[in-house]
Amino acid sequence: MPDEHESEDASLLADQIAYYRARAGEYDEWWFRKRRFDRGPDLNREWFDDVAIVERALFAFIEAARPERVLELACGTGLFTRHLAPRVRHVTAVDASPEVIACNRARVEGDNVEYVLADLFAWKPADRYDMVFMSFWLSHVPLGRFDAFWSMVRQALVAGGCAYVIDSAIDPTSTARDHPAPDAGAGIVTRKLNDGSQFRIVKLFHDPASLTRRLAAVGFDATIQRTPRYFIHGNARCGPRTKRPGNAPVAAPSR
Ligand SMILES: C[S@@+](CC[C@H](N)C(=O)[O-])C[C@H]1O[C@@H](n2cnc3c(N)ncnc32)[C@H](O)[C@@H]1O
Repeated sequence: MPDEHESEDASLLADQIAYYRARAGEYDEWWFRKRRFDRGPDLNREWFDDVAIVERALFAFIEAARPERVLELACGTGLFTRHLAPRVRHVTAVDASPEVIACNRARVEGDNVEYVLADLFAWKPADRYDMVFMSFWLSHVPLGRFDAFWSMVRQALVAGGCAYVIDSAIDPTSTARDHPAPDAGAGIVTRKLNDGSQFRIVKLFHDPASLTRRLAAVGFDATIQRTPRYFIHGNARCGPRTKRPGNAPVAAPSR
């Protein structure tokens, strides 16, 4: 029987899926600073400047690392799939919402994207990829599931492969005007849709230093930076695992 904590966690994660399903048609308003996300010309300019920084850094990374096969976790409506697909040979894009996958398909032209409808907390990769990409997903992974999640990422990578993370830095103006200001500690927030309906979701704000430490503890050598205001971004390279006597796996020291 699941204990009370597990049932609470499962219900929160189910609410999180329901939220993104219901939000699919209005999701992009956040990224393009429309309607409730419009914070006025000055803050919008800071947002778009930070967007340009994370996009340029991603393009430069792909140019240098030349991944061929990319796994995109929680692909959403395609705000990043549209950038990945033309730059790599193949993208496998996973998301739990059929509604956002439909938006993604409509946005991303190209026959090199394969969509997988799956719950990432249950899904296991059957293939290996050169790069695992996730934008604005890690902040929705409860800390209690962090290690298991990164073990799945490791399983999805070829030897020498790497993960790439883009996510939210904590800033009171990053979310909609009618959302409560982000709270660094809580980890659970209430989100509203345009029709006023409310959902509870997980939202954790990782900072570059603590995320780098957490990733080192699960065997990833990460280089994570913060843009001036709104985002964190960077890559995490997967080191080999060594075995302790008694077979308990331990992360290899970072290179
Ligand atoms: C904040 S959005 C990020 C979307 C996209 N990566 C982007 O940058 O715009 C989070 C995404 O996670 C998906 N999602 C939520 N829970 C999920 C789960 N358990 N398994 C897979 N996808 C999930 C949602 O459907 C949504 O598309």
